[in-house]
Amino acid sequence: MQPLLKVQALSKSFNLRAGLFSRKRFEVLKNISFCLEQGETLAIIGETGSGKSTLAKLLAGADSADAGQILLDGNIIENKGVRDQQCRHIRMIFQDSEASLNPGLTIGDMLDDCLQYNTSLNKVNRAEKITATLSKVGLLNDHQYYYPHMFSGGQLQRVALARALILDPKVVVLDEALSSLDPSVRAQTVNLLLKLQQDTGLSYILITHHLSLVRHISDQLVVLDHGEIVEYGRTEDIFQKPQSKVTQKLLSC
Ligand SMILES: Nc1ncnc2c1ncn2[C@@H]1O[C@H](COP(=O)(O)OP(=O)(O)OP(=O)(O)O)[C@@H](O)[C@H]1O
Ligand SMILES: [Mg+2]
Repeated sequence: MQPLLKVQALSKSFNLRAGLFSRKRFEVLKNISFCLEQGETLAIIGETGSGKSTLAKLLAGADSADAGQILLDGNIIENKGVRDQQCRHIRMIFQDSEASLNPGLTIGDMLDDCLQYNTSLNKVNRAEKITATLSKVGLLNDHQYYYPHMFSGGQLQRVALARALILDPKVVVLDEALSSLDPSVRAQTVNLLLKLQQDTGLSYILITHHLSLVRHISDQLVVLDHGEIVEYGRTEDIFQKPQSKVTQKLLSC
């Protein structure tokens, strides 16, 4: 059986100015390959600057790779930096969800814009979809009339989740999306994510510095170091017997 998501030999460099006339290329990701099954969670850990957010952006289509491929359900959705614009199946949630929301739009208008832009649903169907999605993430229907500043931190993460889920994605990438929440709210959000996964078979890519969270909710683990995968396997196996020095150091913290 083919995996839901297959990442093959992704690489990414940035150009840096090194002096007035010369430029340097800085390789942020080198030859990244892994797979994610439907209904599973893959966690990515690594020191700061190891390339986790860069990888998240490539996966969600917010930036393009220099080389490599991303396949979803066996179909190529990105090949050497060229993205299939139709693909809305991988969505991302950021750490600072308030900053990623337009302060001048109510949540309902924001979700409606998203549906108008990406689907051909009529007004009635869009309204139904918004109501259903808000309920899915544990928000009230009336929350669609709220502006971002009217929500608490935990609620804002639910709004960000609603925005990610409104287009029925197959994979949600969470880049430190739970880090700023206080522990009880984080636990509630984790339970919500797990329930959604159970109910709908959603897959997650979880980027976090919280190792207990990684162990609690991920099935597979990728360890990044200076843009390279130094360890990849079942989470429990790696926690019990980390092979690389980098993983041993990260897990001992
Ligand atoms: N647009 C860019 N131009 C140049 N360099 C960049 C750019 N974006 C990221 N980088 C560099 O790529 C490297 C990886 O950055 P990235 O944000 O992916 O790290 P990270 O693993 O997410 O770190 P953290 O845990 O701190 O969030 C860093 O050295 C960063 O400076
Ligand atoms: Mg990051």
